[in-house]
Amino acid sequence: MSDSNQMWGGRFAEGPAAVMREINASIPFDKRMWRQDIRGSQAHVAMLAKQGIVAGDDAEAIARGLDQVAAHYDAEGVTEDLALEDIHMQTEARLAEAIGPAAGRLHTARSRNDQVATDFRLWVRDAIDETLAALAAFQCALLDRAEEHAASVMPGFTHLQSAQPVTLGHHLMAYVEMARRDVGRFADARARMNLSPLGSAALAGTGFPVDRHATAAALGFDGPTRNSLDAVSDRDFAIEYLTCAAQCALHLSRLAEEFVLWASQPFGFVSLSDQWSTGSSIMPQKRNPDAAELVRGHAGRITGCLVSLMVTMKGLPLAYSKDMQDDKPPVFECHDLLGLCLAAMTGMVESATFRIERMRAVAESGFATATDLADWLVREAGVPFREAHHITGRAVARAEALGVRLDQVPIDDLTAIDARVNAGVYSVLSVDASVSSRTSFGGTAPDNVRAAIREAREALA
Ligand code: ARG
Repeated sequence: MSDSNQMWGGRFAEGPAAVMREINASIPFDKRMWRQDIRGSQAHVAMLAKQGIVAGDDAEAIARGLDQVAAHYDAEGVTEDLALEDIHMQTEARLAEAIGPAAGRLHTARSRNDQVATDFRLWVRDAIDETLAALAAFQCALLDRAEEHAASVMPGFTHLQSAQPVTLGHHLMAYVEMARRDVGRFADARARMNLSPLGSAALAGTGFPVDRHATAAALGFDGPTRNSLDAVSDRDFAIEYLTCAAQCALHLSRLAEEFVLWASQPFGFVSLSDQWSTGSSIMPQKRNPDAAELVRGHAGRITGCLVSLMVTMKGLPLAYSKDMQDDKPPVFECHDLLGLCLAAMTGMVESATFRIERMRAVAESGFATATDLADWLVREAGVPFREAHHITGRAVARAEALGVRLDQVPIDDLTAIDARVNAGVYSVLSVDASVSSRTSFGGTAPDNVRAAIREAREALA
């Protein structure tokens, strides 16, 4: 490069070389994996010594040197030396500075291909563990608020139209169910990815007498991967992680959307705490739900991360191709965004003030107990449901005409519509009676909600 032409090559020849170095380098982002890289190397060198592939004193020097490099990274951060390309070469160069030529023995019986595959699995595994902890905290927040509001009545919607009254506790518990499925998905992905690629070497395995079971065990994997070609070219684990994350972000986005709606003046169901809202620079009255909107927005970016890696991988022949270096930025970005989203929704749920009087008033205003009237006719007067539906429709029209709630329509008006109605019907027309009657398993009755909370707490513990 720089020696190609002393007279004019400074700019001409150096330009492309500099760009080459820049496009080739992953150190600006993969330095984030330094802990996993050191862990992988420690496991590898211990195995090399045990197998007699590297002499004991060299292996000890390497192990100590790796500790020094780790301490240095921890204290100073990782320098972005583009000439050293990636975290693997960076660490090896640092190791050589620390212990001299023995450092050159560390890369025996491995390649950066199995090394990066191992490091990245370790990183994604750690990321999943962090996400699982955040999902547990999110569920705790939902469970606490659900318990508080196990009997608080709110309108339940379909088509965003008042449908039937439900309890706020029941509504919040729906998100606990989503979070539990997210936990299950992440745990499944973690279990499936937990095999060690280390020792697959460049693509074909190695002739050195490595013990892949030993390195796998040392790194907390369940065993070694079974095919060296697959091991160095597989990024399913990263795609699965992104899939789980996208699904989880989608759930958070739906809750965020509800908070945006509920915090609006026409709804008025919730007011977000000062900590979780922002003001407007021009309209002093505003309290904007920016965090909720950004959670909704971030779900789009997280889905983009998933699409990005799928498209990167879709045309690659076996085994390793450099395209695969692009696997890390979307995974790192996704993890950061999802961590923020989970923390933000947890904080919003914990600190929100639910306006339950307003929720109750809206639940009472939308003829939401019409189904209860129809069910009463079926149960108490033996009316076929279709006919009961029709009678109830007329009762709703009457209430609308009188400008009153369904439970305020005078009995004479109701009996005029159908003689089989009697005053007993009023007992089912209040929103409280309605929610209390929904005792089918998984229904919104307050006692059911409390039982669901108990079960979910046990599952979480
Ligand atoms: N930085 C590379 C990556 O992340 C490491 C593997 C490089 N292997 C190679 N043969 N060039 O994919």
